[in-house]
Amino acid sequence: MKIFLVAGARPNFMKVAPIIRAIKRHNRLINKVLVHTGQHYDYEMSKVFFEDLELPEPDIYLGAGSGSHAEQTGQIMIKFEEVLLEGKPDLVVVVGDVNSTIACALASVKLHIPVAHVEAGLRSFDRTMPEEINRLLTDAISDYLFTPSPDADENLKNEGIPDSKIFLVGDIMVDSLLFNLEKAKKSKILERLGLRKSLSDGGSLTTDYSLLTLHRPSNVDDKDSFSKIIAALTEIAKRIPIIFPAHLRTKKQIETFGLRRHFNDMGSGRRKKTVNKGIYLLEPLGYLDFLNLMMQAKFVLTDSGGIQEETTVLDIPCLTLRDTTERPITISQGTNVLVWNNTQKIINEAFKVLDGKGKQGKAYELWDGKTAPRIVDILVNSFQPAAR
Ligand code: UD1
Repeated sequence: MKIFLVAGARPNFMKVAPIIRAIKRHNRLINKVLVHTGQHYDYEMSKVFFEDLELPEPDIYLGAGSGSHAEQTGQIMIKFEEVLLEGKPDLVVVVGDVNSTIACALASVKLHIPVAHVEAGLRSFDRTMPEEINRLLTDAISDYLFTPSPDADENLKNEGIPDSKIFLVGDIMVDSLLFNLEKAKKSKILERLGLRKSLSDGGSLTTDYSLLTLHRPSNVDDKDSFSKIIAALTEIAKRIPIIFPAHLRTKKQIETFGLRRHFNDMGSGRRKKTVNKGIYLLEPLGYLDFLNLMMQAKFVLTDSGGIQEETTVLDIPCLTLRDTTERPITISQGTNVLVWNNTQKIINEAFKVLDGKGKQGKAYELWDGKTAPRIVDILVNSFQPAAR
């Protein structure tokens, strides 16, 4: 059984790593080919994740790169079709909701190659989000839909997808999180940022801090929305420093909108100055450093999807800078609160945490670190190679 496993952008890499580990247990049955589309290509967006997650070098690199949505999706489809025709896999596995996910799923089904979608069924019901379109379309054409939570199953059933294609297996990101927790604890990022004394000086936290990520087009490509969020951050930063490893898209927009004055620059964070109040802008971080920062943060502010899940598992309060979420279980059961770009709401929720009234939560029972073995077992047991 020959499987093409696709990864393209930063949030994909921690989702393919556990699948690769689980496939190893079946390496006499499965021939796995790792395909990197090149949607993300900078060291901080791609290579550092291969190092941190101990991923093998991709077998195939498509080098698709950036562009408009149509350009990027089209480039990936054209290049992926070529390798499909040459490699003739029995199955293509795609993860998440980025442009690489839909591009590779679509190229595959047009060649009658079955597709498995990991992290299927999530819906924000906001079709202005590019990821929502990617999720809807990928799920509509996939043969195996591996879902993280019961709400995802419901969404798929409501869209008319037959039960026989839906497999509730849990959250693949949690596999990576639990697997790497001990390694992440050894990261020296807090010392590097001046948030913790070095071990020889006692190793204790010098100050509480909160952690911010922000990159959604609806937040950072719109000056009004970005400014409303910054107004809240500025208030919060008077009480607690905000550590902000910024996505490259966000960094560009900060310059374009002339918003630089609101941030303290920390560069790659190698200065050992003590962090005080303020918003500290950093380069994007690798997986282990970011996990370490998240584990010890007082709370996290984010517009990312995966971080809403990771904070729930780590029981760290999460304020999500969006008006919808495709991960509602992180609200009903977890530590997540939606605050969107509502300046006052962001401040109120942050102050609640600082006053000791932060939300606590519990992860869904199948978020147990064993999602990838469940997926691979299902594929091995049910897969019938197509007659070609
Ligand atoms: C993509 C995903 C988003 C995910 C995010 C995480 C889609 C539709 N969006 O958004 O779901 O949350 O990744 O990071 O697939 N850039 C670089 N170097 C890189 C990659 C990007 O400089 O290695 C810059 C380029 O200017 C590029 C811009 O970032 O145009 C945006 O990259 P792109 O992949 O188009 O979308 P993201 O915003 O990263």
